[in-house]
Amino acid sequence: MRLLALSGSLRARSSNGAVLRSALALWDGPTGLADIGALPHFNPDLDGEGDTPPAPVAALRAEVAAADALLLVSPEYAHGVPGVLKNALDWLVSSGECVAKPVAVITASPFPTGGDHANAQLRETLRMMTGTVVTAACREIPAIGPKVDPATARLADEDTLADLGSALTHLAAAATTPAP
Ligand SMILES: Cc1cc2nc3c(=O)[nH]c(=O)nc-3n(C[C@H](O)[C@H](O)[C@H](O)COP(=O)(O)O)c2cc1C
Repeated sequence: MRLLALSGSLRARSSNGAVLRSALALWDGPTGLADIGALPHFNPDLDGEGDTPPAPVAALRAEVAAADALLLVSPEYAHGVPGVLKNALDWLVSSGECVAKPVAVITASPFPTGGDHANAQLRETLRMMTGTVVTAACREIPAIGPKVDPATARLADEDTLADLGSALTHLAAAATTPAP
């Protein structure tokens, strides 16, 4: 089962990037990381019927289509979803690759809220896109700072790692369950 991850942070030392790398290492199967920072701003004029979409958009759509499950890992900015991630989802709304695709949403924040606003907004957008949001695989990780080992740029907190493993087990189960 192939897992494709999308990160809402472009920061080199991103704490969400550390969560994402830890998740990919735990996944039992092939994985990929979408390069959503290279996408142009969403513009329906670039995506008309019969048009060839911009190359980074076509690449993203192909990666999502080839994945059995999606993992979104993101910070929250101003109680919202980072523009780079919302932009990527906007490019996927009408093309349909997310339809019935099992998705986990994980947000990590230095604050006790764990990015709850962005988490809820991402889930709502994905439901609108008729993705299959796997609630049991979604997580809000609070106080992320000390849970990351800067030397490895991975999660170091054992409880959080165990919970991440549990979340991925739920996502994998959803990806192997045939659609009704
Ligand atoms: C402009 C700005 C707005 C932010 N707004 C929020 C917020 O609304 N909620 C929150 O939990 N964290 C907020 N943060 C803190 C981010 O969660 C923090 O910078 C985090 O480390 C970014 O994620 P990353 O480490 O994966 O890049 C904000 C940070 C910045 C720079």
